[in-house]
Amino acid sequence: EAIEKGGYEHFMLKEINEQPRSIADCMRGRLDAKNGRLILGGLRDYMNKFQNADRIIITACGTSWHAGLVAEYLFEEFARIPVEVEYASEFRYRNPVINEKDFIIAISQSGETADTLAAIELAKSKGATIFGVCNVVGSSIPRATHAGSYTHAGPEIGVASTKAFTAQISVLTMMALKLGYQRGTLSESRYMQLLSELETIPSKVERALKLNDKVKAIAAEYKDARNFLYLGRGYNFPVALEGALKLKEISYIHAEGYPAAEMKHGPIALIDEEMPVVFIATKDSSYEKVVSNIQEVKARKGKIIAVVTEGDTTVRNMADHVIEIPETEEAFVPLIAVVPLQQLSYHIAVMRGCNVDQPRNLAKSVTVE
Ligand code: AGP
Repeated sequence: EAIEKGGYEHFMLKEINEQPRSIADCMRGRLDAKNGRLILGGLRDYMNKFQNADRIIITACGTSWHAGLVAEYLFEEFARIPVEVEYASEFRYRNPVINEKDFIIAISQSGETADTLAAIELAKSKGATIFGVCNVVGSSIPRATHAGSYTHAGPEIGVASTKAFTAQISVLTMMALKLGYQRGTLSESRYMQLLSELETIPSKVERALKLNDKVKAIAAEYKDARNFLYLGRGYNFPVALEGALKLKEISYIHAEGYPAAEMKHGPIALIDEEMPVVFIATKDSSYEKVVSNIQEVKARKGKIIAVVTEGDTTVRNMADHVIEIPETEEAFVPLIAVVPLQQLSYHIAVMRGCNVDQPRNLAKSVTVE
């Protein structure tokens, strides 16, 4: 086992640190920015259906569902197709309206999640096309779908999903760009620009990983907190959800992720000097709004930990701690911003003496409904 951990104390830490490579592996042979090429083999025979779909329905559970939420923003922004993101466990029992012009994307690391499998069977019986985005080759979901793309993240052992999440988003990003280009909703020049930026993501994730010591020091300060709030808007809203889920599952600290603007509809009542609030406040189209949300928390004496774009001085002057990540396209920020949140939950869990790789009550694949 020590050999498998490759010198790391836990699988989770190894997997967090593998992300520059796993994202690159996911893009290898698919993305060639210089020549404007983006090839997803699994899509080839279904591109027509995908392009002409009335609606995309994404179904998944847990972290994979969060990747689906990021994809909702991606598909709607770049390809202008309406998207619904469904928890598989709700979707399967709701008698959902599905028709033949719906394109269903099922996301799963393990490829064995019982609810996701059942949602696929249901959609299939109604004539929809089902596309899988899975990590484990040959697992049940890739076998149950019409087509799919593997995430190629390599085996993920830690129960808390890390590198599978960023690989899922990488595949979904490539799908959204391809779809946008084919549908003409993305101009050639913008498409080329996005492809080149996407190619830089592994090296930017590598830089983000260097934040580890800083994040560890923040973890030491907040390891005894009883609650955490994670806030973000737009593409960073699903990142907030994912940050909160990571913390809950491995450190057993209660954490909630919220869209930052929803804070004033309830969670703001929780804020006092005991409450750490993690903001994902990168320079994007909702930056100014997030800054005013930060001020609202500060006015109530909440402790502010902010993930910001490198060089940001505005938030630095307001927050208790800033974590600066490399700048990228707004749509690609989740791939980088999630990294320090994974590190934060990891270090807090280790400091609390929790079993990081096998948290209580959880299994790596949930094969029961
Ligand atoms: C993630 O950290 C969790 N352990 C869990 O939410 C997981 O993402 C979920 O059970 C879905 O699993 P899957 O991707 O294998 O379908």
